[in-house]
Amino acid sequence: MKEKTLIKVKNMERHYKSGEGIVRALDGVSFEIKEGEFIAVMGASGSGKTTMLRILGLMDDLTKGEYSVQGLNVEELPEEERTYYRLTQLGYVFQDYALMNEMSALENVYVLSLMEGNTKKESIATAQEALEKVGLGNKGDRIPDQLSGGEKQRVAVARAIAKKPKILFADEPCANLDTHTSEQVLEVLRNLNKNFRQTIVMVTHEQWHTKYASRLIKLKDGKIISDKKLRK
Ligand SMILES: Nc1ncnc2c1ncn2[C@@H]1O[C@H](COP(=O)(O)OP(=O)(O)OP(=O)(O)O)[C@@H](O)[C@H]1O
Ligand SMILES: [Mg+2]
Repeated sequence: MKEKTLIKVKNMERHYKSGEGIVRALDGVSFEIKEGEFIAVMGASGSGKTTMLRILGLMDDLTKGEYSVQGLNVEELPEEERTYYRLTQLGYVFQDYALMNEMSALENVYVLSLMEGNTKKESIATAQEALEKVGLGNKGDRIPDQLSGGEKQRVAVARAIAKKPKILFADEPCANLDTHTSEQVLEVLRNLNKNFRQTIVMVTHEQWHTKYASRLIKLKDGKIISDKKLRK
């Protein structure tokens, strides 16, 4: 089967104003992402990883260059369509989980679906399915404080995948986790990628995390210094 291209980026730049001058957080980045890839993004602190993920995830704009996702030219997309696309097609996992503490795990996972106008019954059913995919089917009634770090991170993954996003973005999803717990979260991502062909872009600082990925992109000073396949 020929894989579809989901993302195309050409000569992407992102400049930030800093005092007198400008910082080129991204400085001419080009690549494509195909459906079913699991991409790890590495690079030193300040190399542009989060900046890149935020632009790819439509949370920020590029300063120069071209970006299209599923054939849509992002620059030409009206604001409401962009927001709608972001909410319905893209999933995010952040390093600090960003869960709501006064809600159960299940509620954390289905609240977005409710906000999108789905019925409570539908929302709960998809949330439960997502919790099962991350191995937490029996812990939906716990609040985040009653879960371990890895479990919280898996709830965050469940929340991101409940809406069946075309692309899942994860910015250092294991940053606060010990090795064993990191392995559990990475296994979940690998299973989603292998069994459900979920496309994933994950930023990481740890070389060993890349063994879960199918491709590794390395950034340095806002430029790609290496981009290679890791496994078939
Ligand atoms: N809002 C901002 N205003 C000004 N400069 C910024 C802003 N956000 C990021 N930068 C700068 O852009 C560059 C890239 O930052 P970015 O957050 O993408 O790095 P990173 O690779 O994610 O680093 P880390 O590994 O520390 O998370 C850095 O030099 C940073 O200082
Ligand atoms: Mg970062």
